[in-house]
Amino acid sequence: MEFNEFIEIAKIRQSVRDYDKDREVEDDKILSCLESMKLSPSACNAQPYFYHIVKGDKAKSLSKYLTLGAMNSFAKDVNTFAVITEENYNLTAKIGSSVKDQDFKSVDIGISVAYFTAQATTLGLSTCILGWFDEKKLQDLLGIKSRVRLVIAIGYAKNDKLREKKRKSSDAIFKIIE
Ligand SMILES: Cc1cc2nc3c(=O)[nH]c(=O)nc-3n(C[C@H](O)[C@H](O)[C@H](O)COP(=O)(O)O)c2cc1C
Repeated sequence: MEFNEFIEIAKIRQSVRDYDKDREVEDDKILSCLESMKLSPSACNAQPYFYHIVKGDKAKSLSKYLTLGAMNSFAKDVNTFAVITEENYNLTAKIGSSVKDQDFKSVDIGISVAYFTAQATTLGLSTCILGWFDEKKLQDLLGIKSRVRLVIAIGYAKNDKLREKKRKSSDAIFKIIE
């Protein structure tokens, strides 16, 4: 698939909640998404995050910690996850965040996830960003102490029919001020 403008990716990128459990994600595609993520901007270039790519049996265990009843139940068919932890600021980002009372870490993590998932789309992969998970269970499973901020489900869609994008009206979400 060829893309000329970013908006072409944005239009077809959607949260997929129906995965082909028999189709593995190729390692080189994951590496390509990680390379894209690494190019994302961050406050003072601090890159205050770490991506844990979880596959195989660990992914099976992990998927149980993402669900509550029907919520995220599709995760059982997902073979690959990226678990994103929050890491330290560098000194300038730490000072900037404190002086300006801004949470740059969340912003930086969000941008990195956007880069990762956009690249996944260009490679024919489907993703769903997940904010609902049992943080303690994920920390224990991965043997980490850092805060888990987001999880990305990655795979091939069983059904990737494009849904209509529902978004706020332009008036509600931006204005141009001169
Ligand atoms: C921070 C964040 C957390 C999210 N958490 C979940 C989640 O736990 N489960 C889920 O199914 N979708 C989750 N989503 C996906 C959103 O519901 C989805 O992006 C939004 O409804 C827009 O739909 P689209 O991604 O298909 O365009 C999350 C998205 C973001 C950015």
